[in-house]
Amino acid sequence: MPNEGSYEVALRKSNQIQADLLEHPDKYCMLTGDRPTGRLHFGHYFGTLVERVRLQDLGVRTNVIIADYQVITDRDTTEHIADNVHNMVIDYLACGIDPAKTMIFTHSSVPALNQLMLPFLSLVSEAELQRNPTVKAEQEASGHALTGLLLTYPVHQACDILFCKGNIVPVGRDQLPHIEQTRLIARRFNQRYGKVFPDVDGLLTSTPMLPGLDGRKMSKSYGNAISISMTAEETAKLIRKSRTDSERNITFDPQNRPGVSALLTTAGICTGRDPQEIAAEIGMGGAGQLKRYVTESVNAYFEPIRERRRELQKDMDYIRDVLADGNRRANEVANATLDEVRAAMGMVY
Ligand code: TRP
Repeated sequence: MPNEGSYEVALRKSNQIQADLLEHPDKYCMLTGDRPTGRLHFGHYFGTLVERVRLQDLGVRTNVIIADYQVITDRDTTEHIADNVHNMVIDYLACGIDPAKTMIFTHSSVPALNQLMLPFLSLVSEAELQRNPTVKAEQEASGHALTGLLLTYPVHQACDILFCKGNIVPVGRDQLPHIEQTRLIARRFNQRYGKVFPDVDGLLTSTPMLPGLDGRKMSKSYGNAISISMTAEETAKLIRKSRTDSERNITFDPQNRPGVSALLTTAGICTGRDPQEIAAEIGMGGAGQLKRYVTESVNAYFEPIRERRRELQKDMDYIRDVLADGNRRANEVANATLDEVRAAMGMVY
């Protein structure tokens, strides 16, 4: 029998929840978030923002954390943090996240959320922390020493999820170990002190990972990601510069032609068309014609979002108010949960 932490089991559970959500959205509370290290890009949009908006509009309780304390897991500076946080709120709203329905808040503004870290750390062993494959991979990629905060950030994410009693977390496959960690913490807490926290499941997204423009993993540091906040001209320039290959005839072949195929995938997702069909249409038109088509598709898709973004940017007071309101609500929720935790632990004096 596959164990509970396996991908197959997680996928089956996730599919059950996706079906049940449509009938009983009120049973679910979603928590997810982003590190405010820069602007959100295409990968975020198609990979998770669309899903958040869908859940929000279905009537699921939706919560989005801007994980500012996570920025310093592997960096020595908080430079541009406020600017990044405010722009993240703008990206969210432009993409359809509605602050009347979705609670948007920052780690550093919610002391009671962070305080859950103390009892939670007592529920995991050092070996469990050291074993997390995602933490190891992130530490290696960052080229930075393993800080105590990076080692323990999956526990901090458990605080993010559990302070609002989140029971679904939209994730990619590589994030499943974190969900496992959260589930374990919730169960151990409940076993020792009485039931306070729900069972947590990952909601696996069906959209395959969108490659960067050059076919590699999409990442700002590779310069292969189109940000939501880019202008049409910046988008055109980035696409023009992207690497293709020397074969004129355009074909969809992700294995052997990563650059050309990533461009086709990008156009496909924006137009709802099959990349193969786009390739056949362009054929001997070559990379130049392909890039023009991709640029037009991307800019047409994102124009309404970018227009809203430009409008929102004119009213930074409103953006700050949205965040202040989200933080106020998050504090109410976190204080209530911390009171329950204190009561369960007998720490009421
Ligand atoms: N680690 C996530 C990221 O890198 C952000 C995040 C913080 C998060 N806390 C979370 C995601 C809790 C899911 C659940 O973007």
